[in-house]
Amino acid sequence: MTGNPRRHWKSVCKGLVLGTILTSCTILLYCISSPAINFSIPEVPVPYSCAHRPSQPHTKARTNTSQISPSQNCSPKVDIMFMKTHKTASSTFLNILFRFGEKHHLKFAFPDSRNDFFYPSLFQRSHVKDYRPGMCFNIMCNHMRFNAPEVAKLLPTDTSYITILRDPAELFESSFHYFGRLVPFTWKIPGDDKLTEFLLDPQAYFDPEGFNFFYLKNLLFFDFGHDNMMKLDDPRVDDGIKIISERFQLVMLVEYFEESLILLKEALCWEMDDLLFFKLNARKGSTVSKLSSEQRARALEWNSIDWKLYQHFNQTFWKKVEVYGRQRMAEDVAELLRRNEAMASICIEEGHAVEAGRIQETAMQPWQPIGQKSILGYNLKKNVDKAHQRLCRKMLMPEIQYLTELGVNLWLTKLWSHVREIFNW
Ligand SMILES: *[C@@H]1O[C@H](CO)[C@@H](O)[C@H](O)[C@H]1NC(C)=O
Ligand SMILES: *[C@@H]1O[C@H](CO)[C@@H](O)[C@H](O)[C@H]1NC(C)=O
Repeated sequence: MTGNPRRHWKSVCKGLVLGTILTSCTILLYCISSPAINFSIPEVPVPYSCAHRPSQPHTKARTNTSQISPSQNCSPKVDIMFMKTHKTASSTFLNILFRFGEKHHLKFAFPDSRNDFFYPSLFQRSHVKDYRPGMCFNIMCNHMRFNAPEVAKLLPTDTSYITILRDPAELFESSFHYFGRLVPFTWKIPGDDKLTEFLLDPQAYFDPEGFNFFYLKNLLFFDFGHDNMMKLDDPRVDDGIKIISERFQLVMLVEYFEESLILLKEALCWEMDDLLFFKLNARKGSTVSKLSSEQRARALEWNSIDWKLYQHFNQTFWKKVEVYGRQRMAEDVAELLRRNEAMASICIEEGHAVEAGRIQETAMQPWQPIGQKSILGYNLKKNVDKAHQRLCRKMLMPEIQYLTELGVNLWLTKLWSHVREIFNW
């Protein structure tokens, strides 16, 4: 390509034109969809709990009682706030929550018209579909910019707050890959390897006033509703971490996903059955880090608040594992892995994820980043036995399709996907 300056120039022009159209569309979509007025909603005290008793009869039918651990003489917690952070395996976790919610007939607080609560605006109760003061909701789990007081005005007092973090260097790389093209200041980064170029001198490219800038700087801290642009030694950084640790009962880690789920099972009194999962929304070749050690160091320095946040919760995580018992944890993780594998051989054609082009059913196509087809998906096995058909289908279903199935109106998300189809992006 370097040998042909005219072709290069043409592709730059094409990129610019498409980029401009794309941003205009995005801005337009988001402007018309952001609630312009936040008229004040009357405040009604939230109930203590939104759990309803009759959950047992539905569950017992499929549960093999010999698999319930004898220590479980509690009833599963069903009031759950999952703070879905970006690029943190949270689609996989959402699938677990969706199935749990369906099993116990729980009420989800869903967004309206799109699959997030008007991110990056701070969460407001008015973003919840069909919200009226005094309503009972069990689970809230879509992307939002966290706003603790507003969330507390919506969910019952006994709600368990859960979230998940990921190593900030890996998260940054993933976010750059997935959202980079939606951040206009990345368009002027020269070369094919924009990530490397950016990390060499972030200040030269980064624009803190730029559209979508937050995707590329301390995205975790931003998602939790805090200021992602602070200096690391600002006292509000530690305050922010403290606020998060007081609010969330469990902070899971992507790097220890199975261990996290076992801690969740313990904290919420769930069953092993509830934890079964297939990795959803995974990227091609994502099992190995794409960062050199130098890039990693630069990415951590650039996202130093997130790095501090991650290290803090890495410590508390392993304290929890210690309390749970290392040996017991190892055994439970092994069992979960074994059962996931068993499910994979029951449900998945070829037993593993495949590239988008090889997915046969549209219902199984995952959402792709702009201009890429890097997200893997699955083919449901042809002759799954009757007993597993429903479960297999649900476990493999990408987030958008599952949300639709749960009755969420996603017209904006779908319009966006049509726009992308037209540009073949
Ligand atoms: C329950 O599970 C155990 C082991 O997982 C198995 O040996 C037993 O046959 C199962 N019982 C029923 C009724 O399915
Ligand atoms: C997380 O904590 C464990 C156990 O203390 C430690 O071995 C590991 O290096 C920590 N990881 C990070 C990224 O700080």
